[in-house]
Amino acid sequence: MMHAALGIWILSAVICVGRGHHHEGHVQATDQTDQDTAPENSVSLVSSQNKLFAFRLYKKLAAHADSEGKNIFFSPASVSLALAALSVGARGETHQQLFSGLGYNNSLLTQADVDQAFQMYLEKSNKTLNEDVSEGTAVFVDNRFKARPEFLETLRQSYSTEGFNVDFTKTTDSANTINKYVEDKTNGKIDKLVDSLDPSTVMYLISYIYYKGKWETPFDPMLTKEDVFMVDQNTKVPVQMMNLEKTLETYYDQAINTSVLHLPFNNSYSMLLLLPDDMATLENALCPGHLTKWLKWMKSKTHSIFVPRFSIKSSYTLNNVLTEMGMADMFGDRADLSGIAEGQKLAVSEVVHQATLDVDEAGATAAAATGIGITLLSFRHIPVLMFNRPFMVVITERNTENILFLGKIINPNI
Ligand SMILES: *[C@@H]1O[C@H](CO)[C@@H](O)[C@H](O)[C@H]1NC(C)=O
Ligand SMILES: *[C@@H]1O[C@H](CO)[C@@H](O)[C@H](O)[C@H]1NC(C)=O
Ligand SMILES: *[C@@H]1O[C@H](CO)[C@@H](O)[C@H](O)[C@H]1NC(C)=O
Ligand SMILES: *[C@@H]1O[C@H](CO)[C@@H](O)[C@H](O)[C@H]1NC(C)=O
Repeated sequence: MMHAALGIWILSAVICVGRGHHHEGHVQATDQTDQDTAPENSVSLVSSQNKLFAFRLYKKLAAHADSEGKNIFFSPASVSLALAALSVGARGETHQQLFSGLGYNNSLLTQADVDQAFQMYLEKSNKTLNEDVSEGTAVFVDNRFKARPEFLETLRQSYSTEGFNVDFTKTTDSANTINKYVEDKTNGKIDKLVDSLDPSTVMYLISYIYYKGKWETPFDPMLTKEDVFMVDQNTKVPVQMMNLEKTLETYYDQAINTSVLHLPFNNSYSMLLLLPDDMATLENALCPGHLTKWLKWMKSKTHSIFVPRFSIKSSYTLNNVLTEMGMADMFGDRADLSGIAEGQKLAVSEVVHQATLDVDEAGATAAAATGIGITLLSFRHIPVLMFNRPFMVVITERNTENILFLGKIINPNI
């Protein structure tokens, strides 16, 4: 009994450990750390860092959305994938920022390790259940732009990137081409990723993800009834509330006063729904260790659950958030994307992200796409005006335009 009690105490404490983020999500003082922070090879190191990135990005998006009372929904997998592909072409400080912004430690991982990890991840995600989930990247390159062949080759090999030539001087046509591609890949869920393109765009890198799952146990549509959803203490909105009474897995996490419901899909994927007493407590604490703990210690019990049927759509421009996360240089004059092309000054103009989620009695459909616009920084033309040949001079009073002096200088030396 002692043993069991001790075990439960240890498990109730999860500490988030990550590069430079020891302060985040600290729940309770203890020496126990969770296991996925001790990976054995670079593939699992990349994967565990991607999980940490997901929650760091969530916290940033939440901080930005808080004041507006907005939903948050995004695909960390799609954002990591797009930024990792971009980092293939980044050099110097720009590369360093992308790498550590994604959570990769360059004394433990090289770009090649990261490329290999994504290659394995994409191959695996493609192999299992490819009718339910599809994930990939594409790059649209301007006809007249010469990208380094080795950059495109790495994208093709490791990131399964499909390549297309477009004419970016036709900004509307090329935006339509990109949007059509994303629409196809997300089965119509994301149909306008790109709004308007910067006319100096030479390359557009995108990643997409689409997931459709059926609940292992579907809800009975006959039991769905209109009910109210409490947005906050003063705001109630009507929803179609689905109901299911069944043996289901749940967990109550006492450390953060949160109920967790596990809704498995009819494959290896699951949805976890987290109902906290206090949202901020949950949001501040949340880290990958919690998922590990919950999935491991869920208990099956008969429950009657009520979950709203809903469809949401979100859209982000991530420039500010990524800048705050330490990835500032890629956006400006300091950008070094010389791995993409030689002798051209490139910068990232925008990182956009859109996501959708539909939940109903049969299952859930989620889709997301990330777009990264890469533009040619026109050499800022500083006009030069050199008085190295005869010139005239006027000295005037500006209001009256009285000409006080007037002359012509032919030789300044006399
Ligand atoms: C990167 O890894 C090295 C070696 O394990 C470690 O000493 C260093 O603190 C790590 N850097 C960061 C920023 O976590
Ligand atoms: C997924 O598999 C299909 C068929 O085997 C292949 O054509 C496609 O290139 C693969 N895609 C990725 C992203 O690996
Ligand atoms: C959880 O709820 C209990 C009882 O309301 C409260 O005493 C405790 O402070 C809460 N814990 C957290 C982390 O908010
Ligand atoms: C789930 O999968 C099993 C086995 O493939 C199948 O028999 C069952 O009908 C599926 N359930 C749903 C709800 O699609």
